Amino acid sequence: MLGSDGRILAEAVLSQADHAAFGGVVPEIAARAHLAHLPRLVSHVMQQAGVGYADLGGIAASAGPGLIGGLIVGSGFAKGAALAHGVPYVAINHLEAHALTARLPALGLHAAFPYLLLLMSGGHCQAVGVEGVGRYTRLGGTIDDAAGEAFDKVAKLLGLGWPGGPALEQLAAEGRPIHPFPRPLAGRTGCDFSFSGLKTAVSQHIATLPHGAISRAMAADIAASFQDAVSDVMADRASHAMTMIRALHPTCRLMVVAGGVAANMALRRVLQDAAQRQDFVFAAPPLRLCTDNAVMVAWAGIERLSLGLISQFDAAPRPRWPLAELAVA
Ligand code: KG4
Ligand code: ZN
Repeated sequence: MLGSDGRILAEAVLSQADHAAFGGVVPEIAARAHLAHLPRLVSHVMQQAGVGYADLGGIAASAGPGLIGGLIVGSGFAKGAALAHGVPYVAINHLEAHALTARLPALGLHAAFPYLLLLMSGGHCQAVGVEGVGRYTRLGGTIDDAAGEAFDKVAKLLGLGWPGGPALEQLAAEGRPIHPFPRPLAGRTGCDFSFSGLKTAVSQHIATLPHGAISRAMAADIAASFQDAVSDVMADRASHAMTMIRALHPTCRLMVVAGGVAANMALRRVLQDAAQRQDFVFAAPPLRLCTDNAVMVAWAGIERLSLGLISQFDAAPRPRWPLAELAVA
């Protein structure tokens, strides 16, 4: 819950730990969990903020891209509340919410358009020129897996819990990057990404080890080597992306990271170094605002509302919703 000036009045994240036993998100469980918990969570946050429905200037909800069950519950709830209380409803593309988080005044990052965005989440991995609200130029993206997907899959191979990214980062801190895993697409022109070959290389390496004989130290070395490969690839792709954004916007000097994988401190460090080498400022939201959260959705709602961009009540949630389709006239 945000004030109209972007101040964070209250926030809460309900993680769906129920999925851990299945090694990933189970769509039906996710949808039902939204249904079971959303009303209570909304009341709790409003109470914490000391705000009633009559005080609201608008209600924003994520309407895609993502698993349709949770999107239907969330956007349906938001539409119902907006309709009942006579306030605007704003359907938010959750990628746009990640993209605009660095502009949240409370963070003091002062991200002014245009800037380069590296969006790295469980479902997406792309380099984007952020030119304004609703104005995005895709510079490159993954040709197979998303970065977070690769973290999750390698974490699973190492027997870590779900979601795998944070657990893998922790384990990697104990290890040494001694395995020369591939750096897919490094050095290639453009700034596309590829992670499936890297994941396969890790999987093949693990298959050569005696079954059940991977010690924690061995697993830590594998985790560190994987994370090192992802870091090298990211730094290389980011450096190409910075050159590309400069060709489009010669004055652009800002690189922003967003999405769950941007919570990885090792990655942040190499990206910060890459930015410095090209005279770019590096900006990253705090860890809790990198992974999916409602603060970023509310902020995107404020950005849209301030431009008069409200949504119709018949706007349907969209499981697939590329940033490029958000174009504001
Ligand atoms: O943005 P997000 O919360 O949800 C999606 O939109 O997908 O991103 C979730 C992804 C998961 O794949 C998770 O493993 C990864 O972000 N992740 C991390 C870290 N924290 C979350 N990956 C690497 N290191 C982390 N510290
Ligand atoms: Zn996300």
